[in-house]
Amino acid sequence: MKNKKIIGVIVAIVVVVIGVAIWGNQSKGNKQSDNQVKTVGVLQYVTHPALDEIYKGVQEGLKNKGYTEGDNLKIVFQNGQADQSKLQTMSEALINENSDVLIGIATPAAQSLANATSEIPVVLGAVTDPVGAKLVDDEDKPSGNVTGVSDKTPAPGQIDLISRLLPNAKVIGALYSSGEDNSKYEIEQLKKAAAEKGYTVKDYAVPSTNEINSTVAAMVNDVDVIYIPVDNTIASAMQTVVNVANQTKTPIIPSVNTMVEQGGLAAVGIDQYELGVKTGEMAAAILDGKAVKDLPVYSFKTGDIYINEKQAELLGITIPDDLKTEAKEIYNG
Ligand code: TRP
Repeated sequence: MKNKKIIGVIVAIVVVVIGVAIWGNQSKGNKQSDNQVKTVGVLQYVTHPALDEIYKGVQEGLKNKGYTEGDNLKIVFQNGQADQSKLQTMSEALINENSDVLIGIATPAAQSLANATSEIPVVLGAVTDPVGAKLVDDEDKPSGNVTGVSDKTPAPGQIDLISRLLPNAKVIGALYSSGEDNSKYEIEQLKKAAAEKGYTVKDYAVPSTNEINSTVAAMVNDVDVIYIPVDNTIASAMQTVVNVANQTKTPIIPSVNTMVEQGGLAAVGIDQYELGVKTGEMAAAILDGKAVKDLPVYSFKTGDIYINEKQAELLGITIPDDLKTEAKEIYNG
């Protein structure tokens, strides 16, 4: 009788101890997931002002959606400096960091990440042509692990800008890198829009930044205006392009605000910081548990007008008042 009582007490104690242990473990698990720090791996292709702005925007976009660095977010950032083998090693390193989401800023970086993993979600930071770059099969319903933001800008708007600013221009020289999928797409679109309005487009494709100086020096003799798409190689050497083109007062029409700020005459384009914000917000949606297949690629419907007034003065060009009123930003510095 006494023994039975003791056994009963022991069993009760064991049950309680086991129960407490299980409950303790469970609540520890919950706590961990509440305070979990998410890791976002960012791979930027190269340093130029546009991509730097995009990265700043990415941080802001994540923050807007409740992911703050040092609190519940760790960002591991790598810059491939336009080097293919660096991009590859860095992609692998970001995967080894156990990143919850990867962000590729510019096409070559996104391609490198997508080649390295088919499991971790990859968010495109301003990739012009995700389908052409073989990153996404269907922009509306991505079937793989890749989605994100595209910075396609409607070419007819850019031709319209040229006709309003430079009514006498007939020959457009397209300056871009022969190795970038994003530029190929933009130049094709530009040629279609230009042909409709009776412009001639001449191609000046450079293999690398080394040829930019001589190419621009040659093209200014044959074209009325230089057009630059969202091309990373040219963006990395924008100052050279501006310096050479200014010698013959040849106007430059780029396709982003940052390149207007650096000495382009004017552009219809997307604010680079905004592109980054949108990218960061998409990455946050994935961290929140949203599936890639439910997140279509985001494209901006229209671009904004940016003008460099100081550059217009230097070129002896008068900016029409209506264009000034429409402009999102006018740079004077
Ligand atoms: N869209 C480019 C790409 O797909 C990257 C890019 C974003 C870019 N903004 C830019 C390139 C501005 C040149 C200038 O690779």
